[in-house]
Amino acid sequence: MPTQEQRVALVTGATSGIGLSVTRTLAGQGHRVFICARNADNVAKTVKSLQEEGFDVDGTSCDVRSPEDIRGFVQAAVDRYGPVDILVNNAGRTGGGVTATIEDELWHDVISTNLTSVFLMTREVLTTGGMREKNRGRIINIASTAGKQGVVLGVPYSASKHGVVGLTKALGNELGPTGITVNAVCPGYVETPMAQATRQRYAAAYNTTEEAILEKFQAKIPLGRYSTPEEVAGLVGYLVSDTAASITSQALNVCGGLGNF
Ligand SMILES: NC(=O)c1ccc[n+]([C@@H]2O[C@H](COP(=O)([O-])OP(=O)(O)OC[C@H]3O[C@@H](n4cnc5c(N)ncnc54)[C@H](OP(=O)(O)O)[C@@H]3O)[C@@H](O)[C@H]2O)c1
Repeated sequence: MPTQEQRVALVTGATSGIGLSVTRTLAGQGHRVFICARNADNVAKTVKSLQEEGFDVDGTSCDVRSPEDIRGFVQAAVDRYGPVDILVNNAGRTGGGVTATIEDELWHDVISTNLTSVFLMTREVLTTGGMREKNRGRIINIASTAGKQGVVLGVPYSASKHGVVGLTKALGNELGPTGITVNAVCPGYVETPMAQATRQRYAAAYNTTEEAILEKFQAKIPLGRYSTPEEVAGLVGYLVSDTAASITSQALNVCGGLGNF
């Protein structure tokens, strides 16, 4: 049984890792969740398996780098479930390297995937999605502790996530009087396919093994371990609740103590 009023939620990048866990959490709270990712087969498989678990979930493919895809995605969500109450901007990519050798293409792709997408999707949800017409809404951006501190060999990623934190604070202040809250959730290290790709990248950069990189990363975390996607989703599940109405313009860490700022 839903524990609170049923809402319409959009989650981007929902076929894997944190986005999938957020979708399961929101659907488990009784909300209707419309999801996307680039790979259409994975979207279809994810929707089918969540529907088989009894959740009210649907979705379509969308590349959050494409304004046209974003328009189509939000319109499809409204056609399917009605105006949007909750937006979780989660889709993202890793990316960096020795800064002097970073190609323009990588820089632009990381900024487009992680930051510009958040602006485009949010604007579309406020307008086509109908959120601006409501007196309540929740926008949650999955940033990173890398959005609060510099990450070595991660200039594009760290810059994009600092941008997401800045966008969150400014938009939260702007929308304060409307009842729409805007917050960033900042994971530290979370065990997902992206985390694995990140370890591979650092192992290559430091000419060492992925196991050595894992040990090095874990040693930086006071809890001594990665967080789980479910632990990140748990905070999202709280932020969408009615009780969280006065939490806005914040960037909240879920990181085992990695960042304490
Ligand atoms: N894992 C961590 O340690 C960690 C830490 C801090 C922050 N984060 C942030 O958390 C978010 C999720 O990360 P994750 O670790 O769960 O990643 P993940 O397991 O790699 O999943 C990424 C999801 O995003 C989708 N996606 C990627 N690019 C997309 C695009 N251009 N358009 C639409 N969907 C796209 C992927 O599907 P397709 O490939 O089919 O598009 C997939 O569903 C990201 O914003 C990431 O920066 C992760």
